[in-house]
Amino acid sequence: MSYTAEDTGKSGYDHYMLKEIYEQPNALRQCFAGRADALEGKITLEEVDSIPEPGAVQFVACGTSYHAALYGAAVLREIGIPADAYLASEYALSPPPLTLGTLVIGITQSGETADTLGALREAMSRGASTLALTNVVNSTAARECDHVVYIRAGPEIGVAATKTFSSQLVGCTLLIEQVVDRPRDCRPLIESLRDLPSDVQQVLDSSSAELLVEKYGNSEAYFFIGRGTNVAVALEGALKCKEISYEHAEGFAAGELKHGPLALVTPKTPVFAIVTGNDERARKTLANIKEVQARGAPVIAVTDGQSDAADIADATLMISETHERIAPILANVQLQLFSYHVANALGRPIDKPRNLAKSVTVE
Ligand code: AGP
Repeated sequence: MSYTAEDTGKSGYDHYMLKEIYEQPNALRQCFAGRADALEGKITLEEVDSIPEPGAVQFVACGTSYHAALYGAAVLREIGIPADAYLASEYALSPPPLTLGTLVIGITQSGETADTLGALREAMSRGASTLALTNVVNSTAARECDHVVYIRAGPEIGVAATKTFSSQLVGCTLLIEQVVDRPRDCRPLIESLRDLPSDVQQVLDSSSAELLVEKYGNSEAYFFIGRGTNVAVALEGALKCKEISYEHAEGFAAGELKHGPLALVTPKTPVFAIVTGNDERARKTLANIKEVQARGAPVIAVTDGQSDAADIADATLMISETHERIAPILANVQLQLFSYHVANALGRPIDKPRNLAKSVTVE
């Protein structure tokens, strides 16, 4: 797919990051176009249809891509396939044992991140089958791995990854459906994928994130909590906030709060709680909301309204009800917008945050 000068211009937006946040509906459509057949109820990734069901999966990645790896590993474990996400910089130096049929997946939007390439080369040197989930055609990761799946998000100029993260989560979902060889009905997932672009557009059109910045924009720190696949979104929300606003922000698995981070919680530290669905995880996250409210912290629930989160939280960022694998993508768009508006209110150089590069090609 070729891209025009327009694709690399700001199209009237103040920042590339904001433009790329608003490009997500189209980017997501491109990501699953021709890969999810609603009539057949089938998901097909031709470029990897020769890959047998892996005995285990090891994801290697850095930064935002590592958060996508956490999501992918959580989904695979829920299906019953052993899977872990590794920080590429650690994996290369102390690689975990490879069991029979292990597939090592490198998630990297640029395809040039030195730590991730190092981890993939380490895996290759031990005979593992490797796959690159990447955004850049013919990048080093794409050329060196045995297999490659492109997320087709288009050029991403802003240093802070936004649309590529959303497309990485869809890419993981498609890849998992392709390689997992177990009887299941993909239709509900495909229907939610088909609705995803308009669900994201609805978040973009109706979000109250900018208004929340007026109320909470000058806080001492920002905390993000979630459970299951929403842990990845909590960590990503915090990374986005800290890398463009320079404010203290941290993401936690909600169950970890009482084991330490709760000591940081005060009336001046808003907590974003990602609560989707109404299952055991959602109910436990409601208890975490009460836990931090008891310490005076204002809570913003990022929720689809299926649980009581909106009733007990101090503020809400709503998302549509959708498939549990797709809900984290919608929740993350709300957090992208909040972080963008916090940084914009502080006059930060959003597209080129200090000390950071778009592609980190040194180890
Ligand atoms: C994310 O906003 C950052 N730009 C950074 O953490 C990035 O995700 C990381 O350097 C990995 O980059 P990659 O996906 O190109 O490998």
